Amino acid sequence: MEYNIQDMNLTLQERMQAMKLKAWKTALTLALKKTPRTSSEFDRLPGHVAIIMDGNGRWAKKHHLNVSRGHRQGTENLREIIRHTDDLGIGVLSLYAFSTENWNRSEEEVGALMQLILGFFASEIDELDAKNVRILILGDKGRLPEKQREVLKEAEKRTEKNTGLRLNIAVNYGSRAEIVKAVQEIAVKVKNGTFRAEEINEQTVSDHLYTAGQPDVDLLIRTSGEQRLSNFLLYQNAYAEFVFPETLWPDFSVHDYDLALEAYGKRERRFGGRKKAGEDV
Ligand code: FPP
Repeated sequence: MEYNIQDMNLTLQERMQAMKLKAWKTALTLALKKTPRTSSEFDRLPGHVAIIMDGNGRWAKKHHLNVSRGHRQGTENLREIIRHTDDLGIGVLSLYAFSTENWNRSEEEVGALMQLILGFFASEIDELDAKNVRILILGDKGRLPEKQREVLKEAEKRTEKNTGLRLNIAVNYGSRAEIVKAVQEIAVKVKNGTFRAEEINEQTVSDHLYTAGQPDVDLLIRTSGEQRLSNFLLYQNAYAEFVFPETLWPDFSVHDYDLALEAYGKRERRFGGRKKAGEDV
C-alpha cells in the first residue's frame, strides 16, 4: 500500500515507509533522466559544499593527453558546477584549485595551472559578478606571480559587495598554514589586550580563518575515488559529510553533482549526538 507523506493520521512507521518510497522513486527518476535537478527536488541541500577536484592527471593519461589538458578540461567542467550550485541556491561553494604542495609539480604543470586561473577569471568574472556571486580567495596570495595576484585581488574587490553565492577559490592554500596564521593573529590580539587568553573559544578561531563569517562545510566531495582531505579546510570540515565519487574530475557532470547532493540529503547528521527516541524505525 502507498501512503501519502502529508497525511497527518499516519503512524510514524507508515510515514517512514512513504518517505523511503519517495526516496526510491527520486533515485530511479534521477538514474533515468539526467537533466539537472531543481532545489525543490531535494529533501535537503547543504549550505556549504567543498570540492576537491581530483583526477585531472589520470583523465589526461586515459586520453593520451598532456596533464595540462586534463586541468583545462577540469576548468571547463567547473563553470557548469558553479552555475548549478548558484541555481540551486546553495550558499557557499569552496573549490580547491591549487594547494601549497602543488608547487612541487613540474614547472610546466604549475605554469599551466596558473594560466588556467587567469583564463578562468578573464572569461567568468562578468557572468559571476552579474549573478551577484561574491568571490573570496582562500590562501596566501603573496607567493603567486604578480599577474595572478592582481587578477585575484581584483575579482575579490569587484564582487565584495555581492550578496549571492559565496564562491571560495583556494589558491596556494594549506589548511594547517591557515590555522597557524589564525593562531598568530589571536596571539597578537591577546598580547595587545584585545581579549584575554581565557576568552578564546571555537568561534574566535573560526573568526580568524579565511572563511570567517561563513558556515562550516556541510558536504565535502572529492572526485576520482581518492578518500583524503589533503590539507583542505580541516577546521571547517569538522562535521562535514563526505562523498567520494569514482568519476575523474573532468568527467564529473552536473548529474554526478546531483547524485552527491542526493546522497547528502539521505545522511543522518547527528553532530556527535544521538537519534531522538522514536526515530529508530
Ligand atoms: C587534482 O588533479 C587537481 C588539481 C591539482 C588542480 C585543480 C584545478 C583545476 C580543476 C583548474 C583550476 C581552477 C580554477 C579555479 C581555474 P590531479 O592532477 O592531482 O589528478 P591525478 O591525481 O589524477 O594526477
